[in-house]
Amino acid sequence: MLQMYKPIDEKIPKHPVLSRQAFAREHGAAVPSILDAGEVRYLNRGSMAIAFALQHSGISHGDEVLIPAYHCLAMVEPVLWAGATPVFYRICENTSLDLADVERRLTPFTRVLIAPHYFGFPQDMKLIRAFCDDHRLILIEDCAHAFFGRMNGHPPGYYGDYAIGSAWKFFPVDEGACIVSSKGRLSGTTTEAGGFFFEIKSLMNTLEYAVAYDRLELLNSPIRGMLRLKDELWNRVKPKPVSRSHDDGNTPVSADATGFDGSRIKQRNSRLSRLIIEGVSKSRIVRNRRENYSRLLSGLGHLPGCRPLFDVLPDEVVPHVFPLVMDAPETVFPLLKAAGVPVIRFGEYLWEGMEKGLCPVSENYSRRIFQFSCHQDMKSSELDWMIGRIGDILK
Ligand SMILES: Cc1ncc(COP(=O)(O)O)c(C=O)c1O
Repeated sequence: MLQMYKPIDEKIPKHPVLSRQAFAREHGAAVPSILDAGEVRYLNRGSMAIAFALQHSGISHGDEVLIPAYHCLAMVEPVLWAGATPVFYRICENTSLDLADVERRLTPFTRVLIAPHYFGFPQDMKLIRAFCDDHRLILIEDCAHAFFGRMNGHPPGYYGDYAIGSAWKFFPVDEGACIVSSKGRLSGTTTEAGGFFFEIKSLMNTLEYAVAYDRLELLNSPIRGMLRLKDELWNRVKPKPVSRSHDDGNTPVSADATGFDGSRIKQRNSRLSRLIIEGVSKSRIVRNRRENYSRLLSGLGHLPGCRPLFDVLPDEVVPHVFPLVMDAPETVFPLLKAAGVPVIRFGEYLWEGMEKGLCPVSENYSRRIFQFSCHQDMKSSELDWMIGRIGDILK
């Protein structure tokens, strides 16, 4: 049960990694996060936070939930779990929601609109809020890619009836998410502890990822020894491994497939995850991510065979990743993987039940947009290495 990690085939860390530097002093003006948007409940995964919102609003059989055609499976699973029908809508080239298309898909059964801020770049939330009010829809603001930022002077998550965040994408934790409501919807809701083994697993996985990338200095060796011992013990008692149905790279290192588990939608993240989320320097996360994005933009933005999805990083955006649109994705993807470059394709697997041709932009982006890490724990040498490898492959 404890040996959850897939072998690390990425030469540099795809996700934030725990280190002493994470606890640096705060520096500069605070940038708001989804945790400032309203009442907060910590949960385990963003997908389970969506399920929590659906359950809390009484969504069930016969209800329709609007999901963008450019999605990951973790956004669809909670809708199916709730017994509702996913209805897919188009997005525009700039990843904004195509509200005219959304409107065409409304029926008397439509209850919810899920609106993601792709890669951390905000949607026009005033417009979307007004649309939902006009049509009496519940708005789930999907901030899985936008934990930090400012949107019209508000923190991410402010406009949704519910907002969900995915903490493991922004903090050096193995798991962790949140649901937030600025509309008072969460009052009286409770969550549950994950239990002893869950806490231990979270600790082990967090440490294992950190030592895999040598981030714990003098503690690397003793912790490696402890983890080896744990693995030996575990190898003696473990059940046979079950093969993964798919891995779009968009899941934490320890998770199976999307990590969605409908039996745990009320489960809090581990104590360690909460301690880390509350204890680390938020200004460092914001600053480093923005700086790393800018370096990737200048290092990769002019290469042949690709173009940045967003060639400007607005002041109040804190990016999740650096999205690059590739001309020859099928050739480049395996080469990047073979070189050990951490690369993710958001929406690589679109929901099979979605009608083909419904949204050419989404189908195109699910093949062509590669996300490269720009998280706060990338070292300068690692960024240079990654830019160099991508450059070698694209030239
Ligand atoms: C836009 C979006 N929403 C929701 C989720 C689900 O978040 P989690 O991975 O924490 O379950 C993801 C996961 O990648 C996502 O990309």
